[in-house]
Amino acid sequence: MDNQEQKHKRRVRYKGTHPKTYKEKYKELQPEKYPETVAKVIQKGSTPVGMHISICVKEILDFLQIKPGQTGLDATLGYGGHTLEMMKCLKSQGHMYALDVDPIEIVKTRERLEGLGFGSDILTILQLNFADIDQVAGKAGAFDFVLADLGVSSMQIDNPDRGFSYKKEGPLDLRLNPEKGISAAERLRTISKEELMGMLIDNSDEPYAEEISHGIISEIKKGKEISTTTKLQQIIGDALEFVPADQRKEAIKKSCQRTFQALRIDVNSEFEVLYQFLEKLPDVLTKGGRVAILTFHSGEDRLVKKSFKQLFRDGVYSEIATEVIRPSAEECNINSRARSTKMRWAIKA
Ligand SMILES: C[S@@+](CC[C@H](N)C(=O)[O-])C[C@H]1O[C@@H](n2cnc3c(N)ncnc32)[C@H](O)[C@@H]1O
Repeated sequence: MDNQEQKHKRRVRYKGTHPKTYKEKYKELQPEKYPETVAKVIQKGSTPVGMHISICVKEILDFLQIKPGQTGLDATLGYGGHTLEMMKCLKSQGHMYALDVDPIEIVKTRERLEGLGFGSDILTILQLNFADIDQVAGKAGAFDFVLADLGVSSMQIDNPDRGFSYKKEGPLDLRLNPEKGISAAERLRTISKEELMGMLIDNSDEPYAEEISHGIISEIKKGKEISTTTKLQQIIGDALEFVPADQRKEAIKKSCQRTFQALRIDVNSEFEVLYQFLEKLPDVLTKGGRVAILTFHSGEDRLVKKSFKQLFRDGVYSEIATEVIRPSAEECNINSRARSTKMRWAIKA
C-alpha cells in the first residue's frame, strides 16, 4: 500500500444546514404550510410524503350509492381520503365509523378530519382490527355500506421508522401496530428454513424462495442479526448473485418487494384477519347493504373472490361483481401505487 493510500481518510460528511432526518427533510410532511410543494409532487405522479392518495374513489362512490342518513363503515381509515369522500355523500346526516390498527397514523388522521369539520357527531374513529367488525356493529347497528382498502398506506411505506420499505434504512419491523406482536426481525430470529420458504411462496409467490431462505438462515446461524431493512436487502442481493448480471438488478428489486410483502403479511396475520372479516361481513350489513373491497395482490384477491362467490351461491349476497374493476390508465399514471389495485363488490340479499 503506498503512502498516499494509507493517508486517505473518508471525507467528513457535511452537516451544514441540510435536513438530517426524514421528518426534517420533506416539506410535504406539513401540507398546510407548503401547499404548492404538495401540488407539484402530485403533478409529477408521486405521492407526497406523509400523504396517501385514495384509489378508485369514483368507482367506489358510484357503486356504494351513499344516501344522507345512512350508516357506513370504512374498515381501513389510513389517511382518511375515502372516509372523507364517503362522509361528504352523507351531507351531515347519518354516521360514519372508521377503523385502523395503526396507533401512529390514526391520531394524525383524526386530527386532520376534525380540522376539516368532521368531528364525533358524524364520525367515530376506532383503533380496532377489522377482523372484529362484529364488535363495532354490536354498538353501531348494521351498516348500509362498507369499504375495505387493504394493505398499507403511503405514510406507512414512506416512514423509514416503520421498516416497510427496502429502499430506506430502518428497523426491520413491518407491523401495522408496532405496539403489538413481534417485529419481522424477531420473527426471522427463530424461524426455520422450511417455514420461511413456505412463507415466501404462500404469501408472495417468490421464485427464489429457496435461495433467499438459505441466505437468511445462514446469517442467523452465524449468530448475526437481521435487524434492518437494508441488511435484509443486502442478503437478498447476495442470494441472487447467480442471476445473470444484466437481469440481476431487476430480479433483486422484485425479490425485495416480494420478500418484504411476505413478511408483512406474516407479522400482521393479514390472511387470517381478512378471512375473519369476510366471514363476519354479511352479518354486519343491512338488507341491500353494499360492500366494496380493494386488494393489492393475488392472495388477497383470491380470498375476496372466493368468499363473495360462495356467499352469492348460498343466497347471502344478491349480487356480486362478475369481473374485477381496475383503476383507469389515467389514475395509474397519476398514482403508480394504483397499478396493482383490484376492486370487488357485493350486495347483501
Ligand atoms: C391502503 S391504506 C387505506 C387508505 C385509505 N383508504 C385512504 O383513503 O387514505 C390501508 C390502511 O388499513 C390499515 N389496516 C390494514 N389492515 C388492517 C386491519 N386488519 N384492521 C384495521 N386496519 C387495517 C392500515 O394500517 C392502513 O392504514
